[in-house]
Amino acid sequence: MKYPVVLHPDKLLKRKAEKVTAITEELVTMLDNMYETMVAHDGVGLAAPQIGQSLRVAVIQADEEDDILELINPELVAYEGETVDIEACLSIPGQYGLVPRYDRIVIRYFDREGVEYELEADDYFSRIIQHEMDHLDGHLFIDKATKLMTEEEMVQYMEELEND
Ligand code: CO
Repeated sequence: MKYPVVLHPDKLLKRKAEKVTAITEELVTMLDNMYETMVAHDGVGLAAPQIGQSLRVAVIQADEEDDILELINPELVAYEGETVDIEACLSIPGQYGLVPRYDRIVIRYFDREGVEYELEADDYFSRIIQHEMDHLDGHLFIDKATKLMTEEEMVQYMEELEND
């Protein structure tokens, strides 16, 4: 089942989400439905506040061939470097922005079996994780962007990058 995506400026997107205290059948179903919702919108990540649930949960799939990454109660444990790149968000259609992020991160999280993992990520994958984890603290990419762009401006920016 697909969920409707909560759109900016809904107040729920600004709220700090609650920690998951138990992995229930409802939570597992929610994870499945979040994945379905993300794929239906051609997204690479989706956080629970975006489907109206104030919980510290996110799903990520940077590429179709990648495994689905399900983050429950993720925590940032280490980071280094900085990189700036374009971001977008299913909750803010038509808006793009240049956002500075850590280049490399290490996070700790739980999966749907309740197993704790540590994960190191860099580059684009690291960026998606940071974007989704920001949602859990009520932060949107438009608040961190050093430059906001329309779709037209974003396409132009990408073309200029390719021509360099
Ligand atoms: Co987003």
